[in-house]
Amino acid sequence: MKIDTKDVRLETALVHGGLSRSQFGETSEALYLTQGFVYDSAEAAEARFKGDEPGFIYSRYANPTVDMFEKRMCALEGAEDARATASGMAAVTAALVCQLRAGDHVVAAKALFGSCRWVIETLLPGLGVESTLINGHEPDAWNKAIKANTKVFFFESPTNPTLSVIDIAHVVSVAKTHGIKVVVDNVFATPLYQKPLALGADVVVYSATKHIDGQGRCLGGVILSSKDWIDENLHDHFRHTGPSLSPFNAWTLLKGLETLPIRVERQTNSANTVADYLHSHSKIANVIYPGRDDHPQADIVAKQMSGGSSLVCIELKGGKKHAFQFENALRIIGISNNLGDAKSLVTHPATTTHKNLAPEVREELGINDAIVRLSVGLENPDDLVEDLEHALSAVN
Ligand SMILES: Cc1ncc(COP(=O)(O)O)c(C=O)c1O
Repeated sequence: MKIDTKDVRLETALVHGGLSRSQFGETSEALYLTQGFVYDSAEAAEARFKGDEPGFIYSRYANPTVDMFEKRMCALEGAEDARATASGMAAVTAALVCQLRAGDHVVAAKALFGSCRWVIETLLPGLGVESTLINGHEPDAWNKAIKANTKVFFFESPTNPTLSVIDIAHVVSVAKTHGIKVVVDNVFATPLYQKPLALGADVVVYSATKHIDGQGRCLGGVILSSKDWIDENLHDHFRHTGPSLSPFNAWTLLKGLETLPIRVERQTNSANTVADYLHSHSKIANVIYPGRDDHPQADIVAKQMSGGSSLVCIELKGGKKHAFQFENALRIIGISNNLGDAKSLVTHPATTTHKNLAPEVREELGINDAIVRLSVGLENPDDLVEDLEHALSAVN
């Protein structure tokens, strides 16, 4: 492409953004499956290490294929800079640990993916960083939890698995008055439907394993922020602790980004259809879907998200027995703990992704035994509705 990605629309940037062709002029992005790089002379190596000459040094620091993925993600997110990581958890951990020191304090919303809660409740305190978990939906809770040493606010929105939504602009406004950095895990919204950086957040993290790959192939993650934040906080931490993404996985994720808008749009439309169908079903107690008017924070969804979600949170009438009967009777939709895939998947969070939370904590977060999370894929929505109909008929 002979023009800047800033001058084209999103779908075009997701096909061409960051592309750096080799001397062979390949159509598809080149896969630089290399650990290191050679230099023309000892002087050239010295110059590159000094930073006097641009170029790659070692793939733990940076790699041309990974660089293309990071640049394409920046174009999508509207970020100045990014670092791609081996998984979403590597992104979350690096984004927090790189800017915190023993004696600091973090405030996080309680409704977090299980491994993120472990980072906040176990890893950080072990490093001497105090943490407080709050109900992120209570507007006053953020302000009330602030201490003199509070450095970071962290939350996900919509939350996994109950899809509740936190007001990003509000949390940012509280943080800004106290010089606190805001880190948002934007996995469930996808970079298409919610832009935390544009709402004032300092850092956004993704598990690229989910919609960005979207075809169940590889793990990946990414941290996006301003160039200043990355230079000051992440640059050295990243180089020396090595959470780097493999070039092969970066290549896969680059191909995932090319089709992200058509996949997510299709999955979201189907999720809408499925949510409406389930809502009126006699064996369903509740459906939580960001995109329906009856979503508990519909007003916040309307102001900060430009689309719904490919995920639907379903509460069956009854308990674990009914949830398991339902899952076991599905014929197209698979039982998995993953999400954002081309294949539709269901999860029983209480016994899988959120099983490590104490029962009273799960109860407090609304993750009861009757909750099933549905990730809607690319199948024909009529087939999905028929599969759900069949599975619900098996529940008794
Ligand atoms: C909200 C959220 N954040 C982070 C992660 C971690 O991503 P990964 O599995 O790529 O490490 C997940 C995984 O399910 C997630 O749902």
